Amino acid sequence: MQVGWSKDSWRAFPAAQPVEWPDPQHAARVRKHLAELPPLIFAGEARNLTAELGKVAQGEAFLLQAGDCAESFDGVSADWIRDQVKVILQMALVLTYGTGRPVVKVARMAGQYAKPRSDLTEEVDGERIPSFRGHILNSEMRTAGDRALDPDRMIRAYNTSSATQNLIRAFTSGGFAHLALVHSWNKDFVASTTAGQRYEAVAANIDRAIRFLRACGVDTGGAPFSETSVWTSHEALLLDYEEPLTRIDSLTSLPYGCSAHMLWIGERTRQLDGAHLEYARGINNPIGVKVGPDASPADVVALCELLNPDQVPGRLSLITRMGAEKVTSHLPPVIDAVTDADHPVVWVCDPMHGNTFVSPTGSKTRKFDDIFTEIRGFFAAHRAAGTWPGGIHVEMTAANVTECIGGSDDLGHDDLATNYDSLCDPRLNGRQALELAFKVSDLIVDSSA
Ligand code: PEP
Ligand code: CO
Repeated sequence: MQVGWSKDSWRAFPAAQPVEWPDPQHAARVRKHLAELPPLIFAGEARNLTAELGKVAQGEAFLLQAGDCAESFDGVSADWIRDQVKVILQMALVLTYGTGRPVVKVARMAGQYAKPRSDLTEEVDGERIPSFRGHILNSEMRTAGDRALDPDRMIRAYNTSSATQNLIRAFTSGGFAHLALVHSWNKDFVASTTAGQRYEAVAANIDRAIRFLRACGVDTGGAPFSETSVWTSHEALLLDYEEPLTRIDSLTSLPYGCSAHMLWIGERTRQLDGAHLEYARGINNPIGVKVGPDASPADVVALCELLNPDQVPGRLSLITRMGAEKVTSHLPPVIDAVTDADHPVVWVCDPMHGNTFVSPTGSKTRKFDDIFTEIRGFFAAHRAAGTWPGGIHVEMTAANVTECIGGSDDLGHDDLATNYDSLCDPRLNGRQALELAFKVSDLIVDSSA
């Protein structure tokens, strides 16, 4: 256990994105209840994920972290979970096939309910009301009553995470993820695109390879052909929720955050002397930290020292989100400082959060080209530094939304109104996500040529 740490030691530190419950006693009762409920993950799973991420840190595997910006309590259904898992599996297959490396799949699912906001209040019809902060805290409806923070939502977050986690496990271990079924992951609206057709060609090659192995006497009916792992992750923003789900592992006697396999700390809450890093330093899960263009190289090294003093590969992922314009100038000094300090991190590119802007139509959006430009800049910076560009972190949905501009369908500003459904940030739709996976796969192949 880290010196001076306990699951509630964060309470003595200043917290960005503070949560002021209208009735603190109510919140305390909910925390007590959550502390009595079973953990959502087992510590041994988090250790396995750390080991997989350790391979990424050493350049032997690639990380795909993907899912919604903000999950919704209302949208959770078997179909939605299945479709998200399908697109994540498709993207991972493309990356595995193209690069010949294992792909570690981490979903932004089963707990991604808390959102940091630049402004904690907003003006609606001349009245200042609290901003929407994710379904774990309040509702997106635009009245002061709906925006009041409600601790009971933490119970709903726990239950919805539990149901989602359960079905992800069932799909990935119960036969749905069998490599013989790769064709069935291609959704109708994706299949007709260039990326969808390219995917069909990859799937046909995999079919042939499986038939070949079977003919050679290999048993392709069981694992590793039939099973895979899709790990869960979310931003550890609401510490009132994370604290009661922090448990001591019976095997190692070490504390783990048991709300998800991997937790990350966002750009707005990564202060070195703040509550969120204090919480994160003491749990033994793999941890991610978002690193934006304002982070100084020295701060990033300090972050590594605080979160990974033993320099365990796989423990810490630095999820850089510089923006397409700044990646070339701002990423290299960060890479150099971390490398000089000998910290074994997983380098991940979040090409979404540095590239958001407001369309003339009033919707928040991102350009597919900017997203890819940032990834290209990330690869170039790592190639120049001799470090491994370990993975990508993207906001996507399997649904046919129109939230990001560009891609092979060439969505324009006027298309945004057609199907804009995000609770928070604009997501790639299923076609754009698959197209991006192909482009990244090509980039990896080209850069290792
Ligand atoms: C997010 O990942 O949804 C997010 C808010 O990112 P960041 O902390 O990088 O802004
Ligand atoms: Co987001």
